[in-house]
Amino acid sequence: MKRYEDLSPSLRCIMTPGPVEVDPRVLRAMSFPILGQFDPEFTSIMNETMEMLRELFATGNQWAYPVDGTSRSGIEAVMVSLIAPGDRVLIPIFGRFGHLLHEIAERCGAEVFVIEKTWGSVFEPGEVIAAMHSFKPNVVAMVHGETSTGRVQPLAEIGRACRELDALFIVDAVATIGGVPVETDAWMLDAVIGGTQKCLSVPSGMAPITYNERAEAKLLTRKRVERGLRTSEVQPGELSFVRSNYFDLSMLQDYWSPLRLNHHTEMTSMLYALREGLRLTLEEGLEERFARHVLNEKALVAGLTAMGLELYGDPSCKLTVVTCVIIPEGVDGESVRSMLLERFGIEIASSFGPLKGLIWRIGTMGFSCRENNVLRVLGALEATLLRHGVSLPCGLAVQAALDVYEANIR
Ligand SMILES: Cc1ncc(COP(=O)(O)O)c(C=O)c1O
Repeated sequence: MKRYEDLSPSLRCIMTPGPVEVDPRVLRAMSFPILGQFDPEFTSIMNETMEMLRELFATGNQWAYPVDGTSRSGIEAVMVSLIAPGDRVLIPIFGRFGHLLHEIAERCGAEVFVIEKTWGSVFEPGEVIAAMHSFKPNVVAMVHGETSTGRVQPLAEIGRACRELDALFIVDAVATIGGVPVETDAWMLDAVIGGTQKCLSVPSGMAPITYNERAEAKLLTRKRVERGLRTSEVQPGELSFVRSNYFDLSMLQDYWSPLRLNHHTEMTSMLYALREGLRLTLEEGLEERFARHVLNEKALVAGLTAMGLELYGDPSCKLTVVTCVIIPEGVDGESVRSMLLERFGIEIASSFGPLKGLIWRIGTMGFSCRENNVLRVLGALEATLLRHGVSLPCGLAVQAALDVYEANIR
């Protein structure tokens, strides 16, 4: 009989745009005993999680709860629930995850209109608003922080235009939530999807979402109660009921409401992890957390620049939590990444599509976003590049980063 070794994953320094390192307190929370999903102790954990999510999303929305599955499940749940077949959907795309929204909207049977921006930049709000005037969408879906290109899209003006033109505005804030301000109510975002495995630093496996009354009104026109749970007074939904059972938000919200109408079996240990991750985030303070992300980004960028490396993309819309570096000419980017992982235990990311082989992406997210990690990645990258025959000014990178940290203390 084959014998298997004890599971013993290496301790890594993870400097990618997710998944990132997890605070040991979150890991500890995952080891707590299982509670039944209708145990009052568990439902009070559900309610507390909803309360904390409202704070995280900066919203007064009633609905703020996690969908079980990775971030993509939250995106799919929101889109399949709020986009009915035949809806007119505008998707402004400026990287890989905009294409994902396109993909999902098509699968919802929508008439999809796409506008695209060259990777490395974002839209002027006026460009999106002009497209709204010409395509007259009833839904606009776009990404806030594009991890594929390291750019952040300003949303407030687009949100206002969506309200004026009566379109629902769906936003993928998977990469930004907990690391960069996401102002759901102030920016008039109708539905927002966050991620756990990035700036919140909780393992992948849940997708926190929020949506407002405008979104709920549309959802309720598609409401359906599952066969086997219906009572005589509950009517099945309209013809355009949501085509997914697992991702039907009208059913999920009944489960997360005091009704506690049975749906799936909640992911107990993941919910403990999310609750603990949220608790730690709010304990740190959102403003303080955003400032920590800015400081570490500043130190990282100072170090990379001092090393003579060039950053990718339009600096005016750089996403704080992802720094994209152009791979120096003649250098095998994958060989550098392998050496960083194998010799230093540090992981940085490559990229997708047109950027594959051209840039590295370094994340400074959540629990991974710390001074010692930034200094480690700079020192190790310098040594690795020297080993790959790149001539660079030695010893300056870590010093430049230290200067940033020291200036911040003064
Ligand atoms: C901006 C953005 N949206 C969506 C996703 C998809 O998330 P997941 O892989 O957790 O399903 C990612 C993952 O990296 C992302 O960066």
